[in-house]
Amino acid sequence: MSDTATAKPETAEGARSMRALRVDLFRKVLDHAGAGTTDLAPDVMQIDPAVYFDPDYFAQERRRLFRETPLLVCLSCDLVEPGSFRLFEDTGAPIVVTRGVDGKVRAFLNVCVHRGGRVVREACGTARRFTCRYHGWTYDTAGKTVGIPSESYFCGKAPAGGEGLVACPAEERHGMVFVLPDPGGTMDLDRHLGAFGAEMERLNFAGAEPVMEQKFQSSSNWKFAMDTYLESYHLPTLHRDTFANVFESNLFLLDMFGPHYRFTFPHKGLHKWIGRPEAEWPVDAMPITYFLFPNTIIAVGSVSANGSSFTTHRLFPTAVGEMYANVRMYALSGVKSAEHRAEMEANFERIKGAAQDEDYAVTGESWGGLSELPPGRKFLLGRHEVGVQNFHRNIARAMARED
Ligand code: FES
Ligand SMILES: [Fe+2]
Repeated sequence: MSDTATAKPETAEGARSMRALRVDLFRKVLDHAGAGTTDLAPDVMQIDPAVYFDPDYFAQERRRLFRETPLLVCLSCDLVEPGSFRLFEDTGAPIVVTRGVDGKVRAFLNVCVHRGGRVVREACGTARRFTCRYHGWTYDTAGKTVGIPSESYFCGKAPAGGEGLVACPAEERHGMVFVLPDPGGTMDLDRHLGAFGAEMERLNFAGAEPVMEQKFQSSSNWKFAMDTYLESYHLPTLHRDTFANVFESNLFLLDMFGPHYRFTFPHKGLHKWIGRPEAEWPVDAMPITYFLFPNTIIAVGSVSANGSSFTTHRLFPTAVGEMYANVRMYALSGVKSAEHRAEMEANFERIKGAAQDEDYAVTGESWGGLSELPPGRKFLLGRHEVGVQNFHRNIARAMARED
């Protein structure tokens, strides 16, 4: 994090591209507002509530979605300096992500190759060397073994200079850091992101600056919690006193990029812009949300006079009925001023309030009842809950995948 003196400029190209997108989306939401329509699924969808509580299905999801699918760990700005590192333990695998002194991002199992000690114990920081505290083996930022105490007593069989920490596939792309939490796996990030990569590039995370972070927990299945992000149907009821005053509930714009989404539920009061010149549209105020399959929401807030901000919400299960979200807020082009920081902190408090007291509270209090339903009873996902429908379709598809 930095003070205002180190705030970075937005690139002109990124800003132009985002502006064009915002104008295009605003035109679409105005068309919907004028016609009284919204993006809809072709039909209502039924889902089996067992997808939320079946332990075998959950075990399969944990492997397929949280070990065999690339996951967003952090943004490049969270690992700025050569030698900076962060633990990534959210999938159960103890992983440390580093930026080597050569600038390259790598991930390793945080397991000493001598006899399993934890090599890194701080959540994040900067280091040139990692030393296991058990017997003192030392590794460099590329994971190579560079020091073994009393090496001569190892009879020359220690892997000095050869094999080091066990690597997991890791890649930095579009200002984001992705890891496949499977040391034996291969990560095909291009295949995973597809056309969504260009969308992420447009977000222009290169100048972002982390501002704050919080963990939200819920005694619930992770998908049950994820569903709450993907529809606006619940705004007038669950968020009656919070988001309902701000956002449209029956106008949901969805663009799909494979299993990933870009969506918006715009601010209220759209009608007054119908027929007004494009140059006057408050396009910068429109929130745009991205869903990076399978577990990440990137919510791009309004651009205020003070500057821009966005949040990442990464959801992780710890058991079939326990999950948490790691929520981080960033200034898109750095913190511009004390007022900008204060505005972001106030926004973060609002998000926290609604998420903890409303979304995560309702999923936690409801989840335990699902398994009591008679077998065969199905849940309904409405046509305007198209984001939730496709989420469940894409999970099923990923689970059935052959590779
Ligand atoms: S377990 Fe790490 S040095 Fe022995
Ligand atoms: Fe919600």
